[in-house]
Amino acid sequence: MSAAEAIYRRIIDDDPDHAEALHWLGVLAHQAGRHDDAASFISRAIKISPDDPAYHHNFGEVCMVLGRFDEATSAFVRAVVLQPDRAESYLALGLATQRAGRFDGAIEAFGHAARVKPGYVDAHHCLAVAQLSAGRPDDAIVSACEVVRLCPGHLHAFVTLGVAHAKLKQWPEAEENLRRAIDLDPNHARAYQNLASVFAAQGRDADAKAILAKAIKVDPTRPGAYQGLAAITGRESGPEQAMPLFKQAVVAARVQERMREMATWSPPGDLSNAIAATETRLGFGPNMERVQFMLSLIDGVGAPPVVPAPSVTRHFDQYAARFDEHLVKNLRYAGPKLLLDAIGPHVPSGARLDILDLGCGTGLVGEILLPMKRLMYGVDLSSNMLDHARNRRVYDALEQAEVCQALEECQPTFDLVVAGDVFVYIGDLSRVFRAVVPVLRPGGLFAFTVESQDAGTYKLMPTGRYVHSETYLRTLAIEVGLEVVSISQDVLRTERGKDVTCRVAVFRRTSIL
Ligand SMILES: C[S@@+](CC[C@H](N)C(=O)[O-])C[C@H]1O[C@@H](n2cnc3c(N)ncnc32)[C@H](O)[C@@H]1O
Repeated sequence: MSAAEAIYRRIIDDDPDHAEALHWLGVLAHQAGRHDDAASFISRAIKISPDDPAYHHNFGEVCMVLGRFDEATSAFVRAVVLQPDRAESYLALGLATQRAGRFDGAIEAFGHAARVKPGYVDAHHCLAVAQLSAGRPDDAIVSACEVVRLCPGHLHAFVTLGVAHAKLKQWPEAEENLRRAIDLDPNHARAYQNLASVFAAQGRDADAKAILAKAIKVDPTRPGAYQGLAAITGRESGPEQAMPLFKQAVVAARVQERMREMATWSPPGDLSNAIAATETRLGFGPNMERVQFMLSLIDGVGAPPVVPAPSVTRHFDQYAARFDEHLVKNLRYAGPKLLLDAIGPHVPSGARLDILDLGCGTGLVGEILLPMKRLMYGVDLSSNMLDHARNRRVYDALEQAEVCQALEECQPTFDLVVAGDVFVYIGDLSRVFRAVVPVLRPGGLFAFTVESQDAGTYKLMPTGRYVHSETYLRTLAIEVGLEVVSISQDVLRTERGKDVTCRVAVFRRTSIL
């Protein structure tokens, strides 16, 4: 116990309702990392003397550390109500509000802080960061320029300016500000990483790579830097070369996670919030999920049975605009034609079918099957792919949905269910086979392509796609009672100049099912 603490405790022994002594005991406990004790002392002080803004402010600071953000916000509001020119409390209120993702509220609070205390550099910089987070880069530039005016060597303001200009695609300004940040601190990894993003966005891959290498040199725990390098390497040399970098990104993320845990860990008190927050972060968010998926490709362990839906959606949303041109012209994709050739002999001439196109993409399969359609429905995970399918005007209905879910919830039945080049994203096909049977009319056909392997069941390849064996498809068909109509081998498309072998499979629902 410190000398100061001993004095305050003696005061409390004599007078248990001494608000100031309780308040200072709380502050000392907070500084010593005993945050629960701190909250208890300061809230006692507030009960005795509810109109002291400093008590509320400090109670708010303790609540922030304890992750009690709503209580922190209320405490800072109380502090500024009691003392409207209390700039530090406005700043703290902004930080608490921002922490809750309410950027407009944060901007308002930081703005107040800057107004009530002219020249308050932190307030202007927090304002710039909040404006950037709120998607207002123009405003962020104005605020960050004010920071630089007040404090010409403000490293973080230059980073903020760089990022804000990059958001506006003002590349020379973005580069200039990020370089100034690096001049001020040559070990500032975040500035290097942002500069690399500026280069990558302009297609300057070589410059981006060089800068990312520097970012990693000054801070080897930055997952984003490895991810950036992996993305460029993947573009240049293919996914296999990018794998080790994805793996390093995951390792770096775990290291950062551990460091964060160690920084915030404090033995006493309720750890459930901290644990929940850690678990959320270990969930890795949308980007890290993809990284984890890529990692499973390298290690060969923990490969999921399907490509995670968000990864599929993200990939095809980005790919949609150039899908037809790239796949059909460059990679000579033959899926739709192969399906038509396989289905054609089993459809009476002139027949009109109700067709369900699973993973319809931009509608290439729908278009080729048009002469035999009565009704045609399409489902796909990617809304951008669906937009292109819609423009083709061959579908009677299109739905954004996952294949298995769509089949399981499907009310109408169909004469034909097709899937062209979709099961490369679904390894375990047992759920699809089970779900397709009730959707098929007796005698209805189920036709699809898969990339193929000769033995085993299915396997995730380093390309991020699954291959399936013919034996596996036949086994699944027997399990659900589908009849094998035909399974033929062909070339689906090319990859890096080589043919990709596929199976084109057609099954029939027998009338007795
Ligand atoms: C390679 S494209 C093929 C598109 C179309 N079938 C063709 O042959 O042109 C694969 C499509 O399947 C979709 N897809 C992949 N997995 C899916 C899933 N589990 N559920 C729904 N759609 C999926 C993708 O969004 C993408 O549009």
